Amino acid sequence: MTRRPPAVRILATGGTIAGAAPSPCDTSGYRAGALPVDELLAALPALDDIRLDARQLASLDSKDALPGFWQMLAGELARAQADPDVDGVVLTHGTDTLEETAWFLHLTLALAKPLVVTGAMRPATAASADGPMNLLQAVQVAACPQAARHGVLAVLNGRIHRARHLRKAHTHRVDAFDSPEAGPAGFIQDGYVGWLSPAHRPAPRFAPETPLAPVDILFDYPGISTAMVDAVLRGGARGLVWAGYGNGSISGRIEPLLREAGRQGLAVVLATRTGAGRVGRPGTDGFIQAAGLDPYKARIALMLALAAGIPPSDLQSLFDTLSYE
Ligand code: SIN
Repeated sequence: MTRRPPAVRILATGGTIAGAAPSPCDTSGYRAGALPVDELLAALPALDDIRLDARQLASLDSKDALPGFWQMLAGELARAQADPDVDGVVLTHGTDTLEETAWFLHLTLALAKPLVVTGAMRPATAASADGPMNLLQAVQVAACPQAARHGVLAVLNGRIHRARHLRKAHTHRVDAFDSPEAGPAGFIQDGYVGWLSPAHRPAPRFAPETPLAPVDILFDYPGISTAMVDAVLRGGARGLVWAGYGNGSISGRIEPLLREAGRQGLAVVLATRTGAGRVGRPGTDGFIQAAGLDPYKARIALMLALAAGIPPSDLQSLFDTLSYE
C-alpha cells in the first residue's frame, strides 16, 4: 500500500508575511495583512511530498490581535487538529504579538498533531522577502510528526522555537526572534529538521473559552509616577504584572502601594524588565514571583489562572511549574 504524503493546513491571519508596500525597496512603509493566503501559497515552490490546503481566518496587523482573537484561534486550531484529513497545521501571524498568541495556544490546546506559527519581518512585496522561506520551512516542520511532541512551535529564519521561550527581540532584522536562556528547540535546513532539545509536550492547563481575567503590566523606571501607578491600581484589573528592576525589585515609593493593593485582593506578580532570567526574591510575601516567565507571558498565565478560579495560595507553584516545563 502506498502511503499518502502528509497534509498540512495553513490558517492565515495577516501580518507582515501578508504585507504589501508600494515598492520592493520598502521594508517598513507597508500595510500588514493586505494579501490573501492564496498569494502566499503562490510564492511557495511546488511540493511533491506535502499536500497543502489553506484558509483565511483574518487579515490583521497583530497589534490588533486581542484576547478574544486568541480564543477564536484556539477554537479553529482545535477543529483543524481534529480533522482526519490534516496531519499538521501552520498558523501565519504578525510578528509583533506572535509570542503572545503562541503562548496562549501553548497553555490551552491539546496537541495531537504539529502546530507551527510563522510570520515575516519583511512584507511579501520586498526584494528578498523572508515570508516565503519562513512559510515553506513552517510547512516542512508541521509535516514532521515528531514536531507535535515539542508543543506549540514557531519557525522563523531557519530556527524552531518553543512557544514557552519565544521572544521578538529586534525591530526589523530577519533574525528578530530568540529563546532567551533556553536557545532554539531546533533548526530546519533544506527540509532537514534537526532537534536541539528533548521533546516535551505539556498537557494544556486551561480551557481557552473561559472569559479571561483583566491583567495589566507596569514597567518600573527611576522616578516612576505614583499617580500613574495609582490610576492603574484603580482601573479594575484583577491582576498586575510588575516588570521590576533586576530580580523583580520595586521602586521604594511604589512598594507600599502594591502591598496595599495585594491586601485588597489584587494578584500582583513580580517579573523583570531585564529580558531574561528567573525572578526569585526573598522577602516578597504577599506577591507572586513570575519565576522564569517574562512579563508578557506572566500576564497571559495570570489572565487564565484567575479566570479558572485558581486560588491565590496555588498561584506561586503554577508560575514555578510553567517556567520550567
Ligand atoms: C504585525 O505584527 O502584524 C505587523 C508586524 C509584523 O508582522 O512583522
